Amino acid sequence: MIKVTNLKKDFVMGEVVVHALRGVSFEVARGEFVGIMGHSGSGKSTLLRQLGLIDEPTSGEIILDNHPTHELSEKERSRFRLTRLGYIFQEFALIPELTAIENVFLPAMMRGGNHEEYYQKAEEMLRIVGLADRLNHRPAELSGGQQQRVAVARSLINSPSVLFADEPTANLDSHASQTVMDTFKNLNQTLQQTIIIVTHEPEDSQYLDRVLWMKDGRLSLKKPKI
Ligand SMILES: Nc1ncnc2c1ncn2[C@@H]1O[C@H](COP(=O)(O)OP(=O)(O)OP(=O)(O)O)[C@@H](O)[C@H]1O
Ligand SMILES: [Mg+2]
Repeated sequence: MIKVTNLKKDFVMGEVVVHALRGVSFEVARGEFVGIMGHSGSGKSTLLRQLGLIDEPTSGEIILDNHPTHELSEKERSRFRLTRLGYIFQEFALIPELTAIENVFLPAMMRGGNHEEYYQKAEEMLRIVGLADRLNHRPAELSGGQQQRVAVARSLINSPSVLFADEPTANLDSHASQTVMDTFKNLNQTLQQTIIIVTHEPEDSQYLDRVLWMKDGRLSLKKPKI
């Protein structure tokens, strides 16, 4: 479902060129829960941003759901992001004035659709992440782990084929991190949701089917030495 071939990303900073990705190739099958791990600066977030079509690679190919993504126009890319991909960030990025359920159905509303249908779907997603009793709470009235689970529910509202998460537990204590990782595992197992997550936490590896280790912009076959 995802096929990446010789992906490169350079950042040109005046006279200096940073080779953030130096030729990365791999495949991910539908229903896999994959982690991207490696040292700070090794290119994890850069890789995730290219996969999630948030940024454009310097060269190389990413095929998502049989679509060669480099052939999409800017408009098609936006549509692809909204309708097929889900994102969870380190800082939950919820809208403070909106309730949990309003935050969750917002991407479905943007896509256009029937209010009753997306309200019901949002309710179901909040139930799946264990927040059926928090529908009308605003973000400030929720714990960090609960806020991140609202963000997870929001990322699922348009039934994305892939969920991308960049260090989703970095701002959480260990208990809240565990509830968020348990939520991902549950989604992966019950909905066969494909998930690609960047994480620094060694204990997260127990949840993953597979780890892609990054080292200096390349994939490394084994865990890099500290
Ligand atoms: N927008 C940018 N402009 C210039 N250089 C960048 C940009 N984004 C990332 N880089 C550089 O690319 C390299 C990889 O960065 P990246 O953010 O992918 O690392 P990371 O593995 O996610 O690190 P961390 O674990 O600290 O989040 C780094 O050397 C970084 O300085
Ligand atoms: Mg990063």
